[in-house]
Amino acid sequence: MVCVETSSSRPYHLVIFGASGFTGQFVVEEVARTVSEGPNGALKWAVAGRSKQKLEKVLEQAAGFLGKPELRSEVDIIVADVGEPDSLAAMCKQAVIVLNCVGPYRFYGEPVVKACVENGAHHIDISGEPQFLEGMQLNYNRQAAEKGVYIVGSCGFDSIPADMGVVYTRDQFRGTLSAVESYLTVKAGPDGGCIHDGTWQSAVYGFADGQKLQSLRRQFNHKPLPTVGTKLKRRGSVFFSDDIQQYTVPFMGSDPSVVKRSQRYLMEEYQATPVQYGAYAGIGGIMNVIKLMFVGMLFWFLVKFSFGRNLLIKHPELFSFGLFSKAGPSRKQMEGSSFQFAFYGVGYMEGQDPSQGKPDGKIRTLVQGPECGYVATPIAMVQAALTVLMEPTALPKTGGVYTPGAVFAKTTLIDRLNKHGIQFSVI
Ligand SMILES: NC(=O)c1ccc[n+]([C@@H]2O[C@H](COP(=O)([O-])OP(=O)(O)OC[C@H]3O[C@@H](n4cnc5c(N)ncnc54)[C@H](OP(=O)(O)O)[C@@H]3O)[C@@H](O)[C@H]2O)c1
Repeated sequence: MVCVETSSSRPYHLVIFGASGFTGQFVVEEVARTVSEGPNGALKWAVAGRSKQKLEKVLEQAAGFLGKPELRSEVDIIVADVGEPDSLAAMCKQAVIVLNCVGPYRFYGEPVVKACVENGAHHIDISGEPQFLEGMQLNYNRQAAEKGVYIVGSCGFDSIPADMGVVYTRDQFRGTLSAVESYLTVKAGPDGGCIHDGTWQSAVYGFADGQKLQSLRRQFNHKPLPTVGTKLKRRGSVFFSDDIQQYTVPFMGSDPSVVKRSQRYLMEEYQATPVQYGAYAGIGGIMNVIKLMFVGMLFWFLVKFSFGRNLLIKHPELFSFGLFSKAGPSRKQMEGSSFQFAFYGVGYMEGQDPSQGKPDGKIRTLVQGPECGYVATPIAMVQAALTVLMEPTALPKTGGVYTPGAVFAKTTLIDRLNKHGIQFSVI
């Protein structure tokens, strides 16, 4: 395979593309913290982006924050622009794995995936955009397989906790797991918290283009996944959950789409019973329900028109009641924030026939971690990259375009995450 042969001869194990972005900065710092976990205890890495000056600043800031002045002189800089294919090819030829932080992926993602596939570099991204993720699977899966390259999408908070959480819950259940529902709760500390504008932009353009996703999905020609046991019912648009003691809404992110793709792969590849999945998020008390309804209706209206999208993009704070901001959260806000996914699974205990009667077993698991966007996401992305680098024999035999649950099902990614503060446990 191309990947394993080239890995030792390339100058860098990891190249962080888009290192000058809000998230990129934190990915750089996370890589700098984990160099000793690379091959022979020394990860070789570089930063990449379209502005050398900005990248120098990123290294300066990381050096100051981590107390590692050597980062300024020891980490190489690669100048590459999504609009210049030759620069992308030159970057990809030097990397075993490209950690791509350039988003929105719907606008900037495909040329990077293409360059990785053509130049034999693995690609890890933190996209939460199903249209991009599924589009890459449709267009590059075969070529990536031929080249022995792993293109792994959604390796941030979207969707490693949910996708690996379902895989973990299934592995821990003694029997055949039929369905899992997850409830996400996010806690901010006394200083509050928010999400950077980059994710807001991805969401605005993603919702605006929802119909294209449906036609893209039809091109896969997939049959519905078979269900084992009672069919999982979708809950209402808003309901009070006794389990998490909050008002709760269906989770609007990419998790359901990613989990479904993983379950399909695991069924086709390992004949595993597909687990049905429902994703929900706690939003707090009744005042938040009212706010969300107001914001939601305005968002749905504005996102349909180009003037509306421009307004949303210009004023993220205003239209999200401060949940998204152009400045992003401060380090202090991040320190005080955390997340928890509670998974509630039902299934048939060992010895029971899954084709007869109702599920007779239950399992509850948790995935907990630090602030989602800029602490947990860099940890998940870097550990995903280290897993690809360090555990090639535990990955699927052929390259291709994969979800985390598909590519990492047989690896030690969950153990790695546990050691780095994203904890998986059975209750
Ligand atoms: N999965 C998750 O949970 C999660 C968490 C955080 C972020 N994200 C995603 O990560 C992405 C980035 O978010 P962010 O908040 O970090 O955004 P951001 O601050 O706007 O960063 C965007 C990055 O892309 C670079 N870029 C833009 N156009 C480029 C081009 N033509 N060539 C090369 N580089 C280019 C920018 O470079 P310049 O600095 O030169 O402008 C910058 O480095 C978004 O899609 C977001 O949704 C996902």
